[in-house]
Amino acid sequence: MCGIVGYCGSKPASDILLEGLRRLEYRGYDSAGICVGTESGFRIIKRKGKIKDLKSIVPDKPFGVNGIGHTRWATHGGVTDENAHPHTDCSGKISIVHNGIIENYMQIKERLLAKGHIFKSETDTEVIAHLIEDLYAGDITLAVREAVNHIKGTYGIVVMHNDHKGTLVGARNGSPLILGVGENEMFIASDVNAMISYTKQVVYLEDGEIITITPDGYRISDLYDKKINKAVNEVDWEFESFEKGNFDHFMLKEIFEQKESVARGMLGRLNLDHATGHLGGLNMTSRELLSIERVIIVAAGTSYHAGLVAAYLIESVARIPAGAELASELRYRNPIIEKNALYFVVSQSGETADTLYAMRELKRKGAKVLGICNVVGSTIARETDGGVYIHSGPEIAVASTKAFTSQLTALYIFTLLIARMRNMSFEAGSDFVRQMQALPSIIDKALLKADEIKKLADKYSVAKDFLFLGRGINYPVALEGALKLKEISYIHAEGFSAAEIKHGPIALINEETPSLFLVPDDRLREKIISNMKEVKARRGKVIAITVEGDSEVAQIADDIITVPHVEEYMYPFVMIIPLQLFAYYTALKLGRDVDQPRNLAKSVTVE
Ligand code: F6R
Repeated sequence: MCGIVGYCGSKPASDILLEGLRRLEYRGYDSAGICVGTESGFRIIKRKGKIKDLKSIVPDKPFGVNGIGHTRWATHGGVTDENAHPHTDCSGKISIVHNGIIENYMQIKERLLAKGHIFKSETDTEVIAHLIEDLYAGDITLAVREAVNHIKGTYGIVVMHNDHKGTLVGARNGSPLILGVGENEMFIASDVNAMISYTKQVVYLEDGEIITITPDGYRISDLYDKKINKAVNEVDWEFESFEKGNFDHFMLKEIFEQKESVARGMLGRLNLDHATGHLGGLNMTSRELLSIERVIIVAAGTSYHAGLVAAYLIESVARIPAGAELASELRYRNPIIEKNALYFVVSQSGETADTLYAMRELKRKGAKVLGICNVVGSTIARETDGGVYIHSGPEIAVASTKAFTSQLTALYIFTLLIARMRNMSFEAGSDFVRQMQALPSIIDKALLKADEIKKLADKYSVAKDFLFLGRGINYPVALEGALKLKEISYIHAEGFSAAEIKHGPIALINEETPSLFLVPDDRLREKIISNMKEVKARRGKVIAITVEGDSEVAQIADDIITVPHVEEYMYPFVMIIPLQLFAYYTALKLGRDVDQPRNLAKSVTVE
């Protein structure tokens, strides 16, 4: 949510900032801007629209040796050129980019207005620039420190002052900020993507930290100016992972990557000799794992859907009561923490505000909280008591795909581990390991249906509403399929348990509202077939995602896509593939901006 990048060194800053913003664009894309320090002062170029629109008004000849850039997802103030970042103070000497929300900005603004400050935008960010101006007495780091002591809310900020050429000052509270350490050059950004082509040496800033950067060094301190020494970490993601390669969109690339990302998530974590799983980062002894009496998975969006699948699995296979909770709701519910309950917070980005704040509330209440994250060094990954990285590689498309199957992979291995400590036999454990090991090649087979799915998507792209229906462990997969379709195609789609439609949603069925059924060959198949017939009887169109060779389903449905047979609990990995492709091709047919759908942004760092 909003991308920030800052650079100081000797390379042309305008180029580095624009390239950084291009790589951050998935975090917000309604407007963008840069401020570059030059001999004659700041040069600020900003406008509403995408990075390509900004690029079209930046001179081709690169300029400047330091600067800051921002790509925006609007919170305060409409999408206008004036509200685009960077923002400046009255003197025009201070320039700032900001990610987050300042809650007390109106009070501060009124005070500053009374003192004669003149504002040019409607944003909360501009208030910080004027506040720093008000407090500045020759030391820019000090002025930023004093300013952040006045503001309430969330922020990741980077500030420049024209009298301190070559210096950038950053501060964070609740919004990520990462330092990139180069050779006689420094970067600061909300995400490693922005700097990965220049350096892999990074320092993760924590809330309450302030950093001053020059090309040859940096100093990190707390809000009381106490110096903080922090480790420099090496990022292991490759530069190529941030490129589309031969694919038209990141989303398609990421859907097709799943055979590898799921395999990567299992690497070294499945043990056939002992028929169990191994997850090094849990930081829990066998005795602690054995004493778990409940598992609660907390997440948002797609990650929540992965949590619902995993909760079903944990209860069925490990025989431990389990549930999934929306982080945004849990946080404000004053939950009761049971003594032997284990909480997982699941987040691709590791920065989602709802999930992060829920995690902090759980920890305050004394809960044991583990993380399942993709982004290494993200705030959630750092603040949990332990956890698992899913290793799916960078997910750039706003719609989450490969993270879902990788989250499942980690949670399935955890289930195997705790199930084997309880009622699961060696034989059953071996079977489970083999079924998981077969998943990458089965996902590969499911992907072969892409062309068929494209045709189906073309045919149904005229629909205005869609129902996604599944049961049992595939019910959350139906929810995820509906989420994918609505977020990138803007077709209204709802997911339900197929059994539930007779309790209300069946009223929506008519010739124009197709229903997409997930029909695996499991215990509930017959029941789902009855639900399909109920829809057909009301002249509803039925698409079925069913198993190769199921001729009965093929006869009832108007259209089918088949997937390879797997054991009951493995179906979510297989059923989700056609749903992701269906959403992708529908959005493509409708001419939508697949990777950057309207109103959305990746990594939702505001509440
Ligand atoms: C859907 C999507 C969102 C995210 C949600 C949680 O395609 O991308 O629903 O799943 O915002 O994000 P993370 O997993 O980063 O916490």
